[in-house]
Amino acid sequence: MSNTWSDRFDQGLHPAIEQFNASIGFDIQLLQEDLDGSIAHVRMLGECGVISPDESLQIEKALEEIRSEELSGTFVPDLNDEDVHFAVERRLIAKIGKLGKKLHTGRSRNDQVGVDIRLWLRRQIDLLDKQLESFQKILLSKAEENLYVLIPGYTHLQRAQPLSLAHHLLAYVEMLQRDRERLVDVRKRVNICPLGSAALAGTSVPIDRRKTSEMLGFDDVYSNSLDAVSDRDFAIEFNSASALIMIHLSRLADEVILWATEEFAFVRLTDRCATGSSLMPQKKNPDVPELVRGKCGRVFGHLQSLLTMMKGLPLAYNKDFQEDKEALFDVVKTTHNCINAMTILMDEGLEFCTERLSVAVESDFSNATDVADYLARKGVPFREAYQMVGSLVKRCINERILLRDLTLEQWQELSPCFQNDIYDSILPRAVVASRTSEGGTAFSRVKEQLNFWKNRFDL
Ligand code: ARG
Repeated sequence: MSNTWSDRFDQGLHPAIEQFNASIGFDIQLLQEDLDGSIAHVRMLGECGVISPDESLQIEKALEEIRSEELSGTFVPDLNDEDVHFAVERRLIAKIGKLGKKLHTGRSRNDQVGVDIRLWLRRQIDLLDKQLESFQKILLSKAEENLYVLIPGYTHLQRAQPLSLAHHLLAYVEMLQRDRERLVDVRKRVNICPLGSAALAGTSVPIDRRKTSEMLGFDDVYSNSLDAVSDRDFAIEFNSASALIMIHLSRLADEVILWATEEFAFVRLTDRCATGSSLMPQKKNPDVPELVRGKCGRVFGHLQSLLTMMKGLPLAYNKDFQEDKEALFDVVKTTHNCINAMTILMDEGLEFCTERLSVAVESDFSNATDVADYLARKGVPFREAYQMVGSLVKRCINERILLRDLTLEQWQELSPCFQNDIYDSILPRAVVASRTSEGGTAFSRVKEQLNFWKNRFDL
C-alpha cells in the first residue's frame, strides 16, 4: 500500500473503491492547467521566502519537464493516482525527490482543483466565443446574399406574413450575440482565484494570494476561503449559458429539417452534410441538424445533474464536487461540436430554393394584414377593417381564389376606399418593403441591420 496518507491508515483501499473514488480517468484533461497552477504557486512560495528561490526554480523546472513528458506521451499516470493533482505530485517527487514534497506547502487539493477547472473553463469560454462569432459571420454572409429573397414567416407554424430571408437569418445572429454576452458575463465569475484558501480556512503559511492570482491571469481573488473552495455557481452558470446556445442551435436545426422536407422544400441539402438511407434509395436525410437537436438532451441533462449535485451541500468542499468535471467536459465538447456542425451546415450544407420560396409567398393569404392596414390608412378603424378583410378571405377561400384575383368591383363591394393601387400594395415584395418600423423586415431596415453587423465584425 502506498499513497499519500498511508502512514495514517492501516489498510489499503479496496481495489473497487479505489477505482470508484478515482477521477484520474477524466481529470487528466486538466493536466496543463494543473501544471500552470502549480508553477504559479511554487513561484509565489519562492518570492515570499517560504522556500528558497533556488528550490522554487528547481521545482518549476521539473514541472515544465512533466509538461514536455505529457506532450511527448511519456507521462503516464499511475493507476494508483487518485487524480491529476496526485499524479503530478507523485511524478515530481519521483523526479526531484524530497524537494518535490515542498510543492504542496500552503495549498490543498480543494483550492487546487478550483483553480484548475476555472483555468480550463476560461480557455474554453474564449474558444466558444470565437466559434460563435464565426457562426454569426456565416449567417451574416448568407443573410447578405438573400436580402431580397422572400420567405413565408410563421406563427403557430401557420403562414403569417412574408419576410426577407435575411431578416430570418439575422434573428439567429441576434440570439448568438446574447449567447456570447452571457459567456462574457459568466467568464467574470469564472475568473476569480480560489488559490490560497487551502482546505477551507486559509493557511498559516505566509503566502501572497494576489501574486498567484495575477500570475494566472485572474481578475481577483475570492474574499472568503470557505466560499472559494465550495463555489460551483460558475459551472452551473456556464452550463445554463450553454443550454441556451443549444436551444438556439436546435431551433435553427429544426427549421432546416422542416425546410428540407418535400412539403416545404425551401432548402436542398447538399451532399456535404446529408446522409443516405441503408434501405430507401431515394432518401437524403438531414442527420446533422437532427443530431444537434438530439444533443440538447445531454447539455440540459448535465445542467440538471450539476443543480442536483449542489443542492443542500454543507460547506465547504465535498467529494460530490468531483462530479462537476465530466459534466463540464461533455457540455463543452457537445456545444463546441454542435456550433461547428451548424456552421458547416449553414455554410455549405444547404442551398435555398429561391424559386420555390417565391412561389410560396405568392400563393397564400399572408398579405391579408396589409389589406386591413390599407383600409386603416384610409380612415377605417383597424378592428373594423380586420373584420371586413376576414370576411373577404373567407369568400376567396370558398371561391378558391387569392386576394389578388378579386376584381376592383369586388373590392369596392366591400368598401369604396379600395382603388387600383390595392393590387400593388398587396404584392409580397411591397408588403415586406412596407414594414419599415424599427427592427421590422423592410429591406431598408434589414439593410441597416446588415450594415450594423458588418461594422461590428469589421467586414
Ligand atoms: N479529484 C478531486 C475533485 O475532483 C480533487 C479534490 C479532492 N479533494 C479532497 N479533499 N478529496 O474534486
